[in-house]
Amino acid sequence: MEISRLRIHVLVDNLVVNPGKILGEWGLALLLELVYEDGSVRYVLYDTGQSGTCLLNNVEQMRLPLEKVTHIVLSHGHYDHTGGLVKVLEKLNSVGVRPHVIAHPSIFEKKLAVRKGEIRYIGIPFKREEIEARSWLVLTRDPVSVVPGVLFSGEVLRYGYPEYTPDMYVAHPDGRLVRDSMSDDAALIVQTKRGLVIVTGCGHSGILNIVEHARALTKTQKIFAIVGGLHQEREPPENIEKLCEELAKRGVELVVPLHCTGLRATSIMLNKLKERILLAGAGSSITILS
Ligand SMILES: [Fe+2]
Ligand SMILES: [Fe+2]
Repeated sequence: MEISRLRIHVLVDNLVVNPGKILGEWGLALLLELVYEDGSVRYVLYDTGQSGTCLLNNVEQMRLPLEKVTHIVLSHGHYDHTGGLVKVLEKLNSVGVRPHVIAHPSIFEKKLAVRKGEIRYIGIPFKREEIEARSWLVLTRDPVSVVPGVLFSGEVLRYGYPEYTPDMYVAHPDGRLVRDSMSDDAALIVQTKRGLVIVTGCGHSGILNIVEHARALTKTQKIFAIVGGLHQEREPPENIEKLCEELAKRGVELVVPLHCTGLRATSIMLNKLKERILLAGAGSSITILS
């Protein structure tokens, strides 16, 4: 069934565009509102922010129907994308909703950041059982259909473009620390009549790898829009400009840089891609397709 309208509501972001009753925190949560040609509407939640408090406050302030969420997709295991999950599930359970939760199995790895000799746990703050008790948990490395026209990317194939995994490690059960390849980093791919809409959490696997993966998976060349975290905070300006050129080359019409894209990178992107960049933050409702 064809998607006739798509809106993406930014429930959690570290930037608040219109401060007031909307709260911000380091993290990301996006609510996809999909309207199909027969008039039916589906809601998919992508990530849950860090605390849950921010998401629950903002969804209420934005008067959005959280109880209509049937599927929650986790972009990867980091705490700033998964930390709100149990609070959201408890809220949904309290109104009789038990959603599907879809993610890559590696979200439960012991994920660490090692910075200046300091080791910090940055993984999911819940045990698998806590999630299974409140939802239908689907762990898959493979792409799966979430709702009509929306695909979970599964593990993103690497096409040789930059990946963004600085200082990230996984502690193995035998105590070894190994570099985290972030195989759990997964995107949502929405198939619309204007082309693909790619939604990313942090984009650790590299936005251009994600783009090529989405194209190959859907056999669709046209990328209409990219929305989400692009992890450009520590990239030198020339790399960010190069990325913009690659996106322009692929005919991307709209980029909404959020979360870990960073303000510096966003301003470089704005200079380069001009009206193709849309600035947004917590509290924003973006009409992608109307
Ligand atoms: Fe993040
Ligand atoms: Fe991350």
